[in-house]
Amino acid sequence: MKLLKKILQALEAEPLDHLVVTGDVTLSGEASEFERAAELLAPWAEAGKLTVLPGNHDLWSWEAAASWRFLRLLGADGRGMKKPFAVFPLAVELSPEVTLVALDSARHGEDPRTTPGALGSEQLAAARELVRGAAKQGRAVVLALHHHLVIPPERVPSDLALQRMPLADAYQLVRMLSELPVAAVLHGHRHTHFRVDLPGAGQPTPVLCAGSASRAADEPVRRPRALVYELDRSGLRAVNAIVAAA
Ligand SMILES: [Fe+2]
Repeated sequence: MKLLKKILQALEAEPLDHLVVTGDVTLSGEASEFERAAELLAPWAEAGKLTVLPGNHDLWSWEAAASWRFLRLLGADGRGMKKPFAVFPLAVELSPEVTLVALDSARHGEDPRTTPGALGSEQLAAARELVRGAAKQGRAVVLALHHHLVIPPERVPSDLALQRMPLADAYQLVRMLSELPVAAVLHGHRHTHFRVDLPGAGQPTPVLCAGSASRAADEPVRRPRALVYELDRSGLRAVNAIVAAA
């Protein structure tokens, strides 16, 4: 919590248009955890500068999933929803030049430790339309989801044992990237910062994992951090990391 607060403070000091939280704001989807997250993110929610999407931990229990706890207590904009309904894929205009398309890849399963994520064909088809529509207007599109699409070669030995909850239909999204112009993909799930460039429609598409924002770690790429992205209609211009001091 100490490390996370430092990062949030540093973010508040930056001239940022929007904060995107790529899921796992809770450990086990408890109501008290969601309330705490909503409290910490309140300044961003109140300013209308927040998009949150769910991670696998946010649907850890059947109760959390069945009662739509994520949407009710936090919601995609951090303000919660009295009467929750499916909101993803969600298009958010970050600036006159950039659109964010937030996806929900979190799925509840009997054994949450081995349940893969999934986007589903319906959500993928809707996301394609949103990307196409924004591109037609000359806007850059950033996709955000919780699960990783791929693990970079240098992380395979260390992350192999942890590779129990992949994204079941990642290949569908990889295919979408090769067919439609996407400026960047942002995701969480892995507690490591890495970037993989996948074949894109035209130029390669950067896929970026910020890593954890709260987990104490010694390995430099695992230190808690947030990434700051600079984007315009031509795509991703720069990425800077705000890293919590060890
Ligand atoms: Fe996760």
